[in-house]
Formats: sequence, structure tokens, C-alpha cells
Amino acid sequence: MTEYDIAVIAGDGIGPEVTREAMKVLDAVADVYGFRTKKTFYPFGTENWLKTKEIFPDTAFEEIKQKRAIYLGAIGDPRAPVGLIEYGIIAKMRFELDLYVNLRPVRLYDERLCPLKGKTPADVDMVFVRENTEGAYSGTYGYAHKGLPIEVATQVMVYTRAATERIIRYAFELARTRNKKKTVTMIDKANALRAQEIWTRVFAEVALEYPDIKTEHAYIDAACMWMIKNPEWFDVAVTPNLFGDIITDLGAMVQGGMGIAASGNIHPGKVSLFEPIHGSAPKYAGKNVACPVAAVLAVGMMCDYLGEKQAGAAIENVVIDLVRSKKIQGVSTGDHPTDFIGNMVVSELRAVAAKV
Ligand code: IPM
Ligand code: MG
Repeated sequence: MTEYDIAVIAGDGIGPEVTREAMKVLDAVADVYGFRTKKTFYPFGTENWLKTKEIFPDTAFEEIKQKRAIYLGAIGDPRAPVGLIEYGIIAKMRFELDLYVNLRPVRLYDERLCPLKGKTPADVDMVFVRENTEGAYSGTYGYAHKGLPIEVATQVMVYTRAATERIIRYAFELARTRNKKKTVTMIDKANALRAQEIWTRVFAEVALEYPDIKTEHAYIDAACMWMIKNPEWFDVAVTPNLFGDIITDLGAMVQGGMGIAASGNIHPGKVSLFEPIHGSAPKYAGKNVACPVAAVLAVGMMCDYLGEKQAGAAIENVVIDLVRSKKIQGVSTGDHPTDFIGNMVVSELRAVAAKV
């Protein structure tokens, strides 16, 4: 029986609660679909930093590198300086493990979850491919004359040829395997951010290798408009890091809210990281009111990545059924107790498997 070595970082705020439910679901699908996981839990996050002054020790990082996958609940907490824990944990893994694909599906499971009038599941079914290692997040920033009236702050957007090319190629491959509209839309702002002209050129070049895939282009401002007006226009969208960060929160709302949006931080063939895209929502921590659906769907993406395709599909299909049958009435905070949803997903997964 295949065994997957998984690192689990439950993190801060609601992270531990949604991770607990997600791990129940992982154990259930492993049992049903015949694989095993060996989980190692790491305590990293703000609480741990406050207690130990450690963010992500090297020894743990070296260990994590050897795993097949990493599962992250949520991190961030106002008791730590802005960005300290985010950069020390999430960004560190994205950069140092070279998790260059941030994969964020935006799929509407039931019309009632969509805040847009008249949009149905047929209209909202797209995947964002966010470049995840550079751009505005490259860490190339600086201050001069800090605290003085003449203070200067800079943050440099960095686009390398290699990283631009590999993410665009990933998007084209995905459009092919998804086999839906067979379209890749590139979203940038090359008209104003002139360095993004490298994206324009590389996109055109890579497109030549994929004559079966249609190409579209939208500037980020227009893309935000299309997301609301005509989300059905999108299939696979590829975009630099910062725009991907922003437009996927918009995407999350279009599919029903932060409680249902999952993501993968992937380096194909190597250890990769799966997480709900929501944050740690400290004010709801420990109240059993957070929605764990996004965390559960992130387990589905992880299973898919590990090659347990049936398990991954089963998780998504069970969530779809539960949402459509209104057993999951909503995916907002407080709609259901956190553990109620986890338990229901587990029993439904077992029931579905028992039928076949
Ligand atoms: C995300 C988050 C992160 C990001 C934060 C926590 C640094 O918003 O995963 O979208 O900006 O990438
Ligand atoms: Mg974000």
C-alpha cells in the first residue's frame, strides 16, 4: 500500500480547526481508496513564535523538504509584526521550495452561492494559474532615510525569462488537459508596467507551441470587470504573482466566498503545498464556526497531486452533492459548526464508496 509522507502545519486562528476537519477527510479517503499517510505535525505560526521566538527552524525546513506534500491551515495574527510570519512560513516555502505554480480553481457548485445575478455553475468554471515565486513578491525592496520626511521606499517587480516561460507553459498544458474551452487568458498590465512586456512576448512565443489552444488577453483592471460581468469568458488564466493574489480573492467571492476557495502551491514532481486561500480569521478562532470546506477541498487537490485521482475527485464530488442538496446550506462563517461539516463529508464519502 502506498504511503505518503505529509507535513501538516495547522497554523494560527481558525487554522487548527479547519485542519482537524481536513485531516479527518484525508484519513477517510485514504481508508476508502486504499492508501496510507504518515503525517508529521509542525507547530509553526504566530502562537509558536510568541512562545519560542522561532518562526521556521532550519532543521524542520530540511525535514519538510523530504516530504511528498505539505498541508497548511492558515497563518497570520495581528500580534506579530505585519508580514513576519507570512514571509517566514508561506513565502519561505513558496520561494525556497520553488513552488512556482499557485493553482486556484474558481468553480461555482450551486447557483445560490454566487453573488452575481443569473450566473450558474456553467458560467463559473475557471482556473487561475498565479506565478508564485517572483514579480512584486520577489523580496527586492528597500528603504532609505527611514523615519525622516525624505524617506524613500521601493519594491521592485522582478520577472525572469525562465519563471515567466514555465508558468505560461503550465497554463497551456492545463488548458489542454482540462479540455473545456481550451483557452488561456493572460492577465497583465503591460501597458502601464512596462517590464511586463516580457509576459507579452513569452506568451506569444509559447502559444505557438499550442496551436490547439486559443489565446486571450486582458489587462488586470479589465479582467476584474469581466470576472463580474462575464465570468463564463474564462477557462485558464495565467497572471503574475500580485495580480493573481488579488483576482483570486475576487474569484473566491464569485464561487461563494473564502470558505470554499482552495489552492495548491506546486512544483510539478516535487514536494508541494496545499492550503485553503482564506486567512486565519483570529476573531473566530476556537468557536467552531469557521467553514472548513475550502480546507477539505485543499485535501482533494493534494490527493489529486499525489496521484490519488479517485480520492481527489470523490472529495470534490461529495462537496458538490452536499452543497447542491443543501445539506451544506452555506459556506460562510457560522452557517454550520466546523466539525459538523467535516463529519458529514466523511460519512458521505464512506456512503458513496459503499455503494460502488
Ligand atoms: C495568499 C495570501 C498571501 C499572499 C499572504 C498571506 C502573504 O494572501 O496566499 O493569497 O499574498 O500570497
Ligand atoms: Mg491572497
